[in-house]
Amino acid sequence: MIASAINGLTATGTARKTTAMQRIFSGIQPSGIPTLGNYLGAIRNWVALQHDHDCIYCVVDLHAITVWQDPKLLAQQTRELAASIIACGIDPTAHIVFHQSAVAAHVRLAWIFNCVARLGWLNRMTQFKDKAGPDRENVSAGLYVYPNLMAADILAYHATRVPVGDDQRQHLELANDIAQKFNHDYGIDFFPAIEPLILGPAARVMSLRDGMKKMSKSDASDQSRINLSDAPDAIALKIRRAKTDPAPLPGEPAGLEGRPEARNLVGIYAALRDTDPGDVLREHGGKGFGAFKEALAALLIETLRPIAAETRRLLNDPETLDAILRDGAARAAAIAEPIVAEAERLVGFLRV
Ligand code: AMP
Ligand code: TRP
Repeated sequence: MIASAINGLTATGTARKTTAMQRIFSGIQPSGIPTLGNYLGAIRNWVALQHDHDCIYCVVDLHAITVWQDPKLLAQQTRELAASIIACGIDPTAHIVFHQSAVAAHVRLAWIFNCVARLGWLNRMTQFKDKAGPDRENVSAGLYVYPNLMAADILAYHATRVPVGDDQRQHLELANDIAQKFNHDYGIDFFPAIEPLILGPAARVMSLRDGMKKMSKSDASDQSRINLSDAPDAIALKIRRAKTDPAPLPGEPAGLEGRPEARNLVGIYAALRDTDPGDVLREHGGKGFGAFKEALAALLIETLRPIAAETRRLLNDPETLDAILRDGAARAAAIAEPIVAEAERLVGFLRV
């Protein structure tokens, strides 16, 4: 279903020809172990998109330090995340996998975008409001301009398609506003429009403890999420303990209305089975959560076991992994450097 949803975007022969030339960019923060939300909302779609796009996938360590990261852990978390992306099925030779701080073009363009984006635009960002919480005076300035750096990540490559989870929709709208304002201010059609690709029945995976909260690698409670590195018995236990309500599963998706925890588990199951919630409920509707949770845990274990094993294998050979990232950064820089140099020329910086 994911593959067909993506193919749906390129259904006709001619459309496929143009999309084959389109460049994909996406990023993920090394702020912890990647979760099932990262996998179903983003990485799994990244894998499917490799077949007919040029893809650039970035471990965004510059974004990660917008909130405190222990310097003793950041480099290792960057490696772990790169390993897990590759273990999910990204091919780092046919495509590019690298870490953001290794390519200076990102920060150079981000500074220009800091001067293009308006404060009023940034003030509307819901992720900033959520992350800053009530103590706004005390968060980093980096957290505030985070969306400008994200726009720079994408536009430094003239990437046109960005696969993300639903939570990033507003940031991509802002990136388009920045691109348009730059083009308008400098009187040239330089940056392309970006198309968000928000795909599948699990574009927003919720916490296992609270169906109204996003599953997040930085949540204080480990019980709230499935980590891609979780052992089978940890997965089984977390699913068994996942919050639900007392009613049995409904027979159709309309019955999930007002039942966020049930909707979440059904969405996860549907995504893992490459089907839709209607299909899942035709099979499991009317039953209690006990049997359904068992089936869900089995499916999760079967999906994540090979990913965790391959991640461990890659991490056991850090030299090879580092060489992959170094090569990715060199190939990324070769694309971004001339684009960002041209943006700097358009702005009017002196070249001597
Ligand atoms: P982050 O972990 O914030 O760096 O997010 C990396 C990617 O995973 C982005 O495309 C997010 O939209 C996606 N993502 C993160 N958490 C979730 C979630 N709970 N459900 C769906 N997608 C998610
Ligand atoms: N902000 C994204 C997130 O937290 C990560 C990200 C950074 C990103 N730069 C990007 C995603 C560029 C897509 C494209 O999920």
